[in-house]
Amino acid sequence: MNPAEFIIHKRSGLAHSDIEIREFIRAFTAGDVADYQMAAWMMSVFFSGMTRDETRSLVIAMRDSGQVMDLSGLDSMKVDKHSTGGVGDKTSIILAPLLASLDVCVPMISGRGLGHTGGTLDKLEAIPGFDVNLTPDQFLKNLKAVGTAMIGQTKNIAPADRSMYAIRDVTGTVESLPLICGSILSKKLAAGLDALVLDIKTGNGAFMKTYEDSTELGRWLVDLADDLGTETLAWVTDMNQPLGNAVGNWLEVSECIDVLKGSGPADVRELSLALGASMFRLANPGTGWQEARSACSAQLDNGHAFDKFCDMVDHQSGDTPVVRDPESYPRADQQWEIVAPSTGWVCEIDTFSIGMAGVDLKAGRTKTTDTIDPRTGCRLHKKIGQPVAAGESVCTVFAAKTADKSTITRRLEKAFHIGPDAVVAPPLLKAVIDRDGLTATNPFVA
Ligand code: URA
Repeated sequence: MNPAEFIIHKRSGLAHSDIEIREFIRAFTAGDVADYQMAAWMMSVFFSGMTRDETRSLVIAMRDSGQVMDLSGLDSMKVDKHSTGGVGDKTSIILAPLLASLDVCVPMISGRGLGHTGGTLDKLEAIPGFDVNLTPDQFLKNLKAVGTAMIGQTKNIAPADRSMYAIRDVTGTVESLPLICGSILSKKLAAGLDALVLDIKTGNGAFMKTYEDSTELGRWLVDLADDLGTETLAWVTDMNQPLGNAVGNWLEVSECIDVLKGSGPADVRELSLALGASMFRLANPGTGWQEARSACSAQLDNGHAFDKFCDMVDHQSGDTPVVRDPESYPRADQQWEIVAPSTGWVCEIDTFSIGMAGVDLKAGRTKTTDTIDPRTGCRLHKKIGQPVAAGESVCTVFAAKTADKSTITRRLEKAFHIGPDAVVAPPLLKAVIDRDGLTATNPFVA
């Protein structure tokens, strides 16, 4: 394998063979291809793309770069969920305990923040003591005892993705359909799942900005995963504004706790119920959409999902008193308000800029070595379609002592567009894609 030749081949817009792709990923995992060569190849893929067959080979090669877990010893159906990434996108923390409380086993392997988007692992680590680095044996033990465990990629699970993900984050190669497929499916298929639910984000805070690109990504992911033996369903959901009100690691965990206790923002609950019902149906074939949704909503309202969350936190060495009393969490050093410059309606939110403000606040990273401040972020008070008066706060910022207040304020002020006319918020649930194709009607609406 000559990495330079391999890169030039893709740079010239040519397709690789299955053997070439497997060899390149094997050599990279073994340390025989340098990070800068991987970065150059991924940039070539970014511009030249990959065929469906090449992408399938990439998924398999990345999956097989490490161990494929054998969870066949667990009796219940093993179903996971993964999102393509967004801002305030926190549903994994709700879904894992929620589904476990319904006897669906959720072996969740999550990632860190990528670009302007938040990562489930960073959010979980905001819980003092929470250990996302369980060994495979501990992972299995917790799955048996609790029904769910949420971990990061161990050294052995899709190690190629672990390294490629970190390189993509800092080399402008995130928004590539084949690379996203390789990344998501390699780690999900390495986890020994029976079924998978995907949340494909679309809009100005997503990696795929248009509905067409997002549905295409959804079709590729569903077809490839199905083809490789894991039944998969994808929702295409709106990311033209942050999900919920909280953006930032602890702020988001705290919002999840509200939803797990039956309250919290309506959009977070709605999306959690849609994704949760989909997971429940995959684990319990033949269940209707409404029945599955009602089963999930009952667990949020009767406290069982929250109890399961506390059990999971406890089994992963997290501080359960603080999740039972979120107000006791240490506060950020400073907070201030972003106010509306005029009276009107919020007509648009630049979600990417809100995500980048999160990075400025150290709720995300610009370099892989950056340390996260779990206390920082912002809480939105206004979303698209809501009226606002001049001088009223549209969001509260939570920051460390050292934060660059004027840059962050400017970025956030520009993120809220206020117009003179009322607008309707974009629908959250846009389409469902399964092995039978795409349905643009909401299955919960009779
Ligand atoms: N989530 C992933 O795990 N990988 C991507 O490439 C994008 C979102």
